[in-house]
Amino acid sequence: MGSLLFIATAVLAVALGLVFHVAVNSPISPLPLTFPSSTLQFPSNDLLQRVDKMGEGVLEGPEDVCVDDEGTLYTATRDGWIKRMHPINGSWESWTLIGGPSLLGLAISTAGDLLVCDADMGLLKVSKDGVVTTLASEVDGAKIRFADEAIEASDGSVYFSDASDKFGLDDWFLDVLEARPHGRLLKYDPIANKTSVVLSDLCFPNGVALSADQDFLIVCETWRFRCLKYWLKGEHKGETAIFIDNLPGGPDNINLAPDGSFWIALLSLRSKGLDLIHRSPVAKRVLAMFPTLRERVKPMVSRAAVVNVGADGKVIRMLDDSSGKVLSFVTSAVEYKGHLFLGSLSTNFVGKLPLK
Ligand SMILES: *[C@@H]1O[C@H](CO)[C@@H](O)[C@H](O)[C@H]1NC(C)=O
Ligand SMILES: *[C@@H]1O[C@H](CO)[C@@H](O)[C@H](O)[C@H]1NC(C)=O
Repeated sequence: MGSLLFIATAVLAVALGLVFHVAVNSPISPLPLTFPSSTLQFPSNDLLQRVDKMGEGVLEGPEDVCVDDEGTLYTATRDGWIKRMHPINGSWESWTLIGGPSLLGLAISTAGDLLVCDADMGLLKVSKDGVVTTLASEVDGAKIRFADEAIEASDGSVYFSDASDKFGLDDWFLDVLEARPHGRLLKYDPIANKTSVVLSDLCFPNGVALSADQDFLIVCETWRFRCLKYWLKGEHKGETAIFIDNLPGGPDNINLAPDGSFWIALLSLRSKGLDLIHRSPVAKRVLAMFPTLRERVKPMVSRAAVVNVGADGKVIRMLDDSSGKVLSFVTSAVEYKGHLFLGSLSTNFVGKLPLK
């Protein structure tokens, strides 16, 4: 009897110790996360498997793509370079070395400069002759931890996302597991040389785009599977509404298309097992403590998908590679002269697809 009591006490002590250990040492303090039962069911068409591979082998993880007035295509790769492709001869040039593995969103400014989000360094500008300056590395006295995508408005201000003020690029999956809104939409004012917070408490704000006549801005909340619309002009100025929700994947970068619609890259962040884990804060706490385990369950986003959404928030079409055979982890889609250019964190090329 005595020894049974001893064993029971010991087991209880160990269990309590474990609970305490997990509560104190887990890097996250999670909320349960449930995903939308996606109302937008699109059958797979594998059209993304038809891409041409541009710059294959010289572009490691080209996350975003943008094109300037002359048709030069820019991308930023994991080796810290801004690389570009000349429109005349199609050759790739390693143009400007910024350094570091965390180069993300790119945009061309009206003046022809390249705006670059480096998750770690903040919002940067690369002039036409390759001079790099930092526009914004902090906001309200705190370092920007996860600059993600930027867009310049016609008044010269730059809107950009800070996906998380708690976790950096390497730990993006912890932000998803924690499921608390740590992200913000920021605005850099070039005249005052100051950055301010436009929207806070966003769920991993990622892509940012302006509508064709700049009356609103779209910001994508990756693990909420939705994008918000923020009015910049008119009677709703300063108000926020849902632009599209229940997306069939986590929206990443978004880009305005020539016809006024938008292309949004979707990350397939879900699997049956993971959906269960997301419901349990305790399971997530434990998982977050073991990086190797975490890496194993982290969705390896095999499916690639992009969606074309009208300015009214209605889906026009979806293109995918269901198996991830040719393209996976597609993070951006840019339409230019009848073609779609696709960036990805897990390919070594930029995909090019005729839209006809
Ligand atoms: C391609 O064109 C660019 C710009 O005109 C030039 O600088 C570059 O040397 C050319 N590359 C090749 C391989 O011809
Ligand atoms: C803008 O402000 C930053 C500090 O926030 C400073 O380092 C930089 O030199 C300023 N740029 C200009 C053009 O004044």
